[in-house]
Amino acid sequence: MAKDNGQTRAKKDEPSDSPEPRNGLELGSGFEIVAREDFSDVTYLLEILHPAMAKAAKPGQFVIVIAHEHGERIPLTIADFDRDRGTVTLVIQAVGKTTREMQQNCRVGTKLFGLVGPMGVPSHIGGAAKVICVGGGLGVAPILPQARAWKESGAYVIGVVGFRSKELMFWDDKFNRYCDEFIVCSDDGSIGIKGLITLGIEQAIQRHPDIDEVVAIGPPIMMKACAETTRPHGIKTVVSLNPIMVDGTGMCGGCRVSVEGKMKFGCVDGADFEVHKVDFDELLLRLSRFVPKEKEALEQWQKDCRIQQQAGELIDQQSSQS
Ligand SMILES: Cc1cc2nc3c(=O)[nH]c(=O)nc-3n(C[C@H](O)[C@H](O)[C@H](O)COP(=O)(O)OP(=O)(O)OC[C@H]3O[C@@H](n4cnc5c(N)ncnc54)[C@H](O)[C@@H]3O)c2cc1C
Ligand code: FES
Repeated sequence: MAKDNGQTRAKKDEPSDSPEPRNGLELGSGFEIVAREDFSDVTYLLEILHPAMAKAAKPGQFVIVIAHEHGERIPLTIADFDRDRGTVTLVIQAVGKTTREMQQNCRVGTKLFGLVGPMGVPSHIGGAAKVICVGGGLGVAPILPQARAWKESGAYVIGVVGFRSKELMFWDDKFNRYCDEFIVCSDDGSIGIKGLITLGIEQAIQRHPDIDEVVAIGPPIMMKACAETTRPHGIKTVVSLNPIMVDGTGMCGGCRVSVEGKMKFGCVDGADFEVHKVDFDELLLRLSRFVPKEKEALEQWQKDCRIQQQAGELIDQQSSQS
């Protein structure tokens, strides 16, 4: 995992007139990055120009990104979309090789090689009068369009989000706009409730025994904890699952999950599932299958970066001497 010193705050990347190509990111073709914001030293936002996708996107859907010609395909939730600007927004946590490479190279004016979507079944919004929308870690951003859509459906919306500390908090203004109540939890107690996000859910349930549905997005372990919090109350709980995805079209079987004993594909049957019906232990086991390969890819990339940097320094030295 990348280290986060918690000292950075949202930093906007200004558009540049003549962006330099960065490590293979195409400038001539692909999908242009029109805005970037850094929420911390591991979390960053990219806003990408894609009018057709912005028109089609619905809450709960995701895209497959290929950053450059030789890049791997990674699934990312559509954290927001703006039909007027013709853009889709992704919020990414730099956890491994590709997400760190993108963090380093994706700047305003550069282009993503591939952007496929919107994929997956849109979230089912409606039929509930009171809803808790829960976002933790990388789930804070994608829960926002869900909260907005629930609000637009006429529901009473309680937002519950979790951060490690106050400095890492983002979009609180947006959540306050769409949520009737907004509960923040922080690991260090620097803002809101001190403790895990499940404490925020408990508090909301105590205040509102008539909650119809909980929607949660975040790391698998957090979604499992949400499931255990709502289970004794018998509240329907929907989560956005993140199994390993390859093609994203139901062809490879990489994303299969067991739901009530039946095999489902995260990419075409989800990503949303009722969490109390999901075999979560199997999901966690399948997620850990490629950890040695992921570690190897990250180490190789870090080594390549060091070699490139040293070569650049050598060229600079030689040209300053001549
Ligand atoms: C439907 C869906 C939506 C997602 N939305 C977001 C999002 O909005 N923001 C965000 O930061 N991350 C999101 N993820 C997770 C993201 O895809 C992974 O963090 C990314 O693929 C990691 O790649 P890496 O090379 O940087 O790290 P790696 O070191 O390769 O992997 C780090 C961890 O990421 C997961 N992962 C790796 N490859 C994949 C893959 N092909 N498919 C799914 N998970 C993978 C695994 O748990 C792995 O242990 C989503 C995943 C899914 C399935
Ligand atoms: S990603 Fe291949 S079947 Fe879902």
